[in-house]
Amino acid sequence: MASSASVHGMWSSRLMFILAATGSAVGLGNIWRFPYVAGENGGGAFVLVYLLCIALIGIPIMSSEVLLGRAGRQSPINTMFGLAERSGVSTNWQLLGWLGAASGFVILSFYGVIAGWAMHYVVLGASGEFGGLTGAGAAEMFGNFTGNAWLVLLWHAVFMLLTTFIVARGVGEGLERTVKYLMPALFVLLVALIGYAVTTGGMGDALAFLFAFNFDKLTGGGVLIAMGQAFFTLSLGMGAIMAYGSYMPKDASVIGTVTTIALLDTGVALMSGLVIFPLVFANGLEPTSGPGLMFITLPLAFGQIDGGLVFGTIFFVLVTFAAITSSISLVEPAVAWLVEHRKVSRRAAAATVGGLAWLLGLGSALSFNVLSDFRLPGGLDFFSTMDYLSNNIMLPLGGMLIAVFAGWIVKREIPQEELGLSPGGYAVWQFLVRFVAPLGVAVVFVMVFV
Ligand code: PFF
Repeated sequence: MASSASVHGMWSSRLMFILAATGSAVGLGNIWRFPYVAGENGGGAFVLVYLLCIALIGIPIMSSEVLLGRAGRQSPINTMFGLAERSGVSTNWQLLGWLGAASGFVILSFYGVIAGWAMHYVVLGASGEFGGLTGAGAAEMFGNFTGNAWLVLLWHAVFMLLTTFIVARGVGEGLERTVKYLMPALFVLLVALIGYAVTTGGMGDALAFLFAFNFDKLTGGGVLIAMGQAFFTLSLGMGAIMAYGSYMPKDASVIGTVTTIALLDTGVALMSGLVIFPLVFANGLEPTSGPGLMFITLPLAFGQIDGGLVFGTIFFVLVTFAAITSSISLVEPAVAWLVEHRKVSRRAAAATVGGLAWLLGLGSALSFNVLSDFRLPGGLDFFSTMDYLSNNIMLPLGGMLIAVFAGWIVKREIPQEELGLSPGGYAVWQFLVRFVAPLGVAVVFVMVFV
């Protein structure tokens, strides 16, 4: 039976939900992943497809996750179970919750590693290592670090410990404070960095690269990656937002809230692009540099600007926090389920999930050094396989099924009541959730895999 509160606690206000969900959405996906996947896929047309996916697929699915979570008030697995039961359909729909929990582990297995890199860059920044770097020097610094397996493993472990510790303490205070102050700070620093990027002379090339919609450069695979990036960056398709929605107060507007979050998230991604690509072009670096792109370009900027030591250090601290507010939402669905189902304490649940995710992450940590020649079936290394599997397959699949569930399966009263829209507004929502979002994902899947 649905109740008006969750056993795991509740956000203290609508603003708190926005902050927490924005904290989940804004993370490495915006600052680290968006620029490098856009770079690898030719820029402009990729960015356009990404933006379309955010608007037409992402926002409808995000609203579905929030409303289902709020109606269910439990972990995504039990929410799906409960809502299926209430709607008189097969409780196998809970499998969607399981798929989501699994996606969380797969994502964390590489997310924790990259977040660990960001933490190491805090130390590099603070010790003045960025001073006077050249493009080649920055690339070498990155290669030396990621080639050092022990160091990468150490930072990965530290990050996973931090995540586990915060989740063990539960929804509420720590998180509330973290997001309230650090997210705006990140915003301000990005704006300042764009200001610097303008002075490098690379801004014109960067704008042309990101916004000239040259479709020749976009392949079918690129469209899939753009769609996957939209899911990843909004934390969709795995129940993170559903779990957060289950702690959301009844009086907040779902659509208004979700649109705000998507706009903030997209803003941060585009701003990161406007910081990184001018540096790429001004320093003769390659847009296709891959996962190291942010770690090679930004130290160059910090090496040049006045106060670069301080700003560089603060910037990587903020990236680390942005990663933490995302990683805690990656573990939350599995943790909430363990607490409900196994009646274990939140601490034990967090330790279990965090420990397992850490273990799986060893594969990604070693992909850049000891295991760099190792390939999984499919021909990619461990890190790239986990990234591909989660972003390009598991999240879109999960998201598509969530839309189908919210649009077609669940009892009509549930979305009607949760959304509180006018009849016209509801019809638009229903059209997007029933047709546009699931068919959009399906078309891309068919285009790429069939
Ligand atoms: N949205 C996060 C980012 O952009 O870094 C990553 C993420 C968090 C993906 C939570 C999925 C998720 F459930």
